[in-house]
Amino acid sequence: MITVEDLVKDFGPKRAVNRVSFSVQKGEILGFLGPNGAGKSTTMRMITGFFPPTSGRVVVGGHDIGENPIPAKRLIGYLPESAPCYSDMTVHGFLAFAAEMRGLHGAAREQAIQRVVGLCFLESVLHQSVDTLSKGFRHRTCLAQSLIHDPPILVLDEPTDGLDPNQKHEIRQLLKRFGRDKAIIFSTHILEEVDAVCSRAIIIDRGQVVANGTPAELRARHELAGSVSLRVQGTAAETVRTKLHALPAAGRVVVQGDAATVTARVYPRDKPVNGDLARSLSELAQREGWRLDELRTEEGRLDDVFRSITRPETAKGAE
Ligand SMILES: Nc1ncnc2c1ncn2[C@@H]1O[C@H](COP(=O)(O)OP(=O)(O)OP(=O)(O)O)[C@@H](O)[C@H]1O
Ligand SMILES: [Mg+2]
Repeated sequence: MITVEDLVKDFGPKRAVNRVSFSVQKGEILGFLGPNGAGKSTTMRMITGFFPPTSGRVVVGGHDIGENPIPAKRLIGYLPESAPCYSDMTVHGFLAFAAEMRGLHGAAREQAIQRVVGLCFLESVLHQSVDTLSKGFRHRTCLAQSLIHDPPILVLDEPTDGLDPNQKHEIRQLLKRFGRDKAIIFSTHILEEVDAVCSRAIIIDRGQVVANGTPAELRARHELAGSVSLRVQGTAAETVRTKLHALPAAGRVVVQGDAATVTARVYPRDKPVNGDLARSLSELAQREGWRLDELRTEEGRLDDVFRSITRPETAKGAE
């Protein structure tokens, strides 16, 4: 549904987006991550035809957005960054305007408004002027605008920005539901959102794609991913160390503590990892009669992966 090929955007001497390529299919929810100024909004603006790329190409539903903008834009619902709305309109007036722009008139227009007002929880502010709305309601009004024509493609620049935790949850649920039969790309700084919603995530840094994978694949890039930590009571650290080293599934072993409490982290000998290491550690503890009061497999933390990929110099000593 969306194909981005070798996209470049220069602002004067500054290259904001540098040879970005990816695609999003129907049924996919792509999370777009990256530090402030990485080029997320700029990429989204080019995808939606807000401005042209310096070079490269965007194809939306088979239409080149530069050569054939009208049919391409018909397919897209776009929530721009910081949710711009016409502030002197009421919420209903603004949504009616958005509906008319999308070619919906009369009963179809009112039906479309009703639908998005329900989806974005705007009933209580329908006749309020946009400039008197709180930030979250203003954001939801702009999100409602992007959904008004029920487009097959959504490009949402920080759709949960400024929402309270309940609304964040509701909007994530909405995205998940829409994600079944639409192609969605959305940017976010909330990494738990990636886990909760995305089928795939792209991390962009200084204009370039630095990671592209499922949330699980990204987590697996964490240096601790797949390692198992355990805490043993009443066995000498040296004994624990020797036994752990002798385990065929174990790679590097780090043991700390004394006889009262020994904590250890065991890294798998081979990657990729499944539950093998944890299972053999648990069997070892049983065989040796260790008093085990913790055994935990580290799945990898997305925020550490994000930091190590986008700011290598600050990622040291993450444990
Ligand atoms: N119209 C513009 N003119 C000049 N520079 C721009 C313009 N728009 C964006 N930039 C620059 O391009 C770079 C990428 O900006 P962009 O807004 O795409 O970042 P972002 O990833 O969306 O960041 P954030 O997380 O803060 O929203 C930044 O250095 C920004 O200053
Ligand atoms: Mg942005």
